[in-house]
Amino acid sequence: MKIGILGAGKVATALGSGLLARGYQVMISGRTRTESVRAWLEKSPAGSWGSPREAARFGELLILAVNPWSQIETVLASLDRQDIEGKAVLDPSNNIEWGERPRMAFDTVSMGQHVQKLVPEAHVVKTLTLIPSQWMVDPKSHGIPDNQWICGDDARAKAHVAAVLCDLGWTKVYDLGPLTMSQLMEGIGLLVTSMVTQLTAKSLD
Ligand SMILES: NC(=O)c1ccc[n+]([C@@H]2O[C@H](COP(=O)([O-])OP(=O)(O)OC[C@H]3O[C@@H](n4cnc5c(N)ncnc54)[C@H](OP(=O)(O)O)[C@@H]3O)[C@@H](O)[C@H]2O)c1
Repeated sequence: MKIGILGAGKVATALGSGLLARGYQVMISGRTRTESVRAWLEKSPAGSWGSPREAARFGELLILAVNPWSQIETVLASLDRQDIEGKAVLDPSNNIEWGERPRMAFDTVSMGQHVQKLVPEAHVVKTLTLIPSQWMVDPKSHGIPDNQWICGDDARAKAHVAAVLCDLGWTKVYDLGPLTMSQLMEGIGLLVTSMVTQLTAKSLD
């Protein structure tokens, strides 16, 4: 199966490598072919790189791995609508505005709901928000539980994403229900991030 990844940073390359190792075809994407993209392509000769538009055309399933969140709209607006129609979009985007104290970027909708509004032709499935990129593949090998949560409004897209997560080593994938549940998932992400930020600051005192 072909996976198109929007982004070529930490999440994109971690998931991209994991998917290639499991027999998927992968295209990561970005604005410029950076040094780290070149290094990834050297390490992953079966993988490819293109523009976000090319990755969206390539993928039967898409992964949104763009940072900062304010660039998500620009990237999604650059895609041809027919290339994303009906496709599942695995969305790990956090709803966090970084600053002295992390806070929600959106407080009336979730980032997942924001993304869904930007791509009404596609089916957003929220997952992996709580997992650092280096643990997103083969969680058991990192000593963390292999449970994962998904939510979204389209049953077929959720089944599609759940199957990919299983292949990546998440053997128990729980369906939390509609995309509105991403408010809770992203809320926990902000809670954990805030705690870690404060604990880290304290330990530096
Ligand atoms: N890192 C984690 O551990 C982690 C964990 C859970 C969830 N997440 C979420 O996953 C998403 C990706 O995070 P990340 O850590 O992988 O970020 P990252 O390493 O900073 O990579 C972000 C990617 O977005 C691309 N990008 C930004 N603006 C763009 C634009 N206008 N056009 C094309 N590409 C653009 C960047 O390309 P350029 O090089 O061209 O800027 C880069 O490849 C975020 O939503 C984050 O909240 C991250």
